[in-house]
Amino acid sequence: MARLPIWPTQNDFPMTKGALKIAIAGLGTVGGGVVKTLASRHDALAAQAGRKLEIVAVSARDSNKKRDFSVGSLLSDPLALASSDADVVVELIGGEEGIARKLVETALQNGKHVVTANKALLARHGKRLAEMAEAKNLQLKFEAAVAGGIPIVTTLREALIAHGVDAVKGILNGTCNYILTEMEVSGRGFADVLKEAQAKGYAEADPTLDIGGGDTAHKLALLSSLAFGTAPDLLNMRVEGISHITAEDIGFASEFGFRIKLLGVARQTYDENGAALGIDQRVRPAMVRARTPLANVDGAANGVVVDAGEAGSFFFSGRGAGEAPTASAVVSDLVEIARGSFGPVFGRPAAGLKNLVPAESGASAWYLRFDVLDVPGVLAEIAGRLSDANVSIESMIQRGRAPGEHVSIVMITHESPQDAVERALKAVAASDKVRARPCMIPMEAA
Ligand code: HSE
Repeated sequence: MARLPIWPTQNDFPMTKGALKIAIAGLGTVGGGVVKTLASRHDALAAQAGRKLEIVAVSARDSNKKRDFSVGSLLSDPLALASSDADVVVELIGGEEGIARKLVETALQNGKHVVTANKALLARHGKRLAEMAEAKNLQLKFEAAVAGGIPIVTTLREALIAHGVDAVKGILNGTCNYILTEMEVSGRGFADVLKEAQAKGYAEADPTLDIGGGDTAHKLALLSSLAFGTAPDLLNMRVEGISHITAEDIGFASEFGFRIKLLGVARQTYDENGAALGIDQRVRPAMVRARTPLANVDGAANGVVVDAGEAGSFFFSGRGAGEAPTASAVVSDLVEIARGSFGPVFGRPAAGLKNLVPAESGASAWYLRFDVLDVPGVLAEIAGRLSDANVSIESMIQRGRAPGEHVSIVMITHESPQDAVERALKAVAASDKVRARPCMIPMEAA
């Protein structure tokens, strides 16, 4: 008796549709990776998509640049891609305005699907662009925009919807994580490590967007939108970078059993009856307890924890940037489009994305570091200001130096509201015994 295959093998898979025609704008690290992956994995991807994926047009800023792959003739005007015969335009130019925005808008107007790695564009204009796409039954996909190769966009949009999401928190910027890790390993200061990271190509010549927290903020705005059904919102987000973190802070963190990480956190808050209040979104350095999953994300890696209600807590880690991981995310979006699996851009119809209601900044335990003159009364003064604001101290370290010299006093508080701690620190900073603005870093619960 003849045996029937349970499922077609790759070679048997019926190619019922013509090739998906792809135009790529931008041939930097990511664009180059996409071109190479589409070439080297051509047959396997065609088998998975049920049709071939073919590049029909490419634009690049510098058509004379030496590259280790070939793509035929290059267009100098990315906008020409929006009127090519491509089915999908891949935007890898970057930037929240200018040519990238114009290209995405024109491509959608002209009936083309869009795949982009542009977090800045979507964090600013995501809702409107999603509305444009959905009005024409087009796809606007952005897996590569957040955490490189980690499939966190698809996970939040599709895999973790059943029980909803209470919180998403992540190390979303490899440059910052690399710098903090190097500071910890070598004991060197921020400026020194940044300079070396730039020389090695790990940090941009202008690192502002990375070290100031802006890049993490763009990514967090997208994760928050996917998790909570709100329009991406950068305005209701506190953003702090890592440039004020010292080697001393990292050393103290280690003594307390913590590591300092730049975290993006978006959390649904609830009242005492369990009714949803608002969304707390923030980007800032945090003390993460050693040996928890996020604390162990080292170097340029990224990591994300999603608390998905009754489904439980999930941890993802991997490479957040670079040629192969980012190309992996772009190509998986292209295969989804080739398959014709269409869902709303942010996981629910764009017109129904709610405006984010900001939550009060939550309470937390805090690491506080004071750079003070070692003179009588300074400790009493700090303790007094904290007590005035009803902030209770859990533990304290003072490093002794010669009397009269400056010293660091470090305190860990019991759980206290952020505004109370800020009030106390403002009062402490006004003292003539205090040499610099006190440093405050939240202790992340898990
Ligand atoms: N510059 C980012 C990082 C990668 O350092 O993680 C692109 O968002």
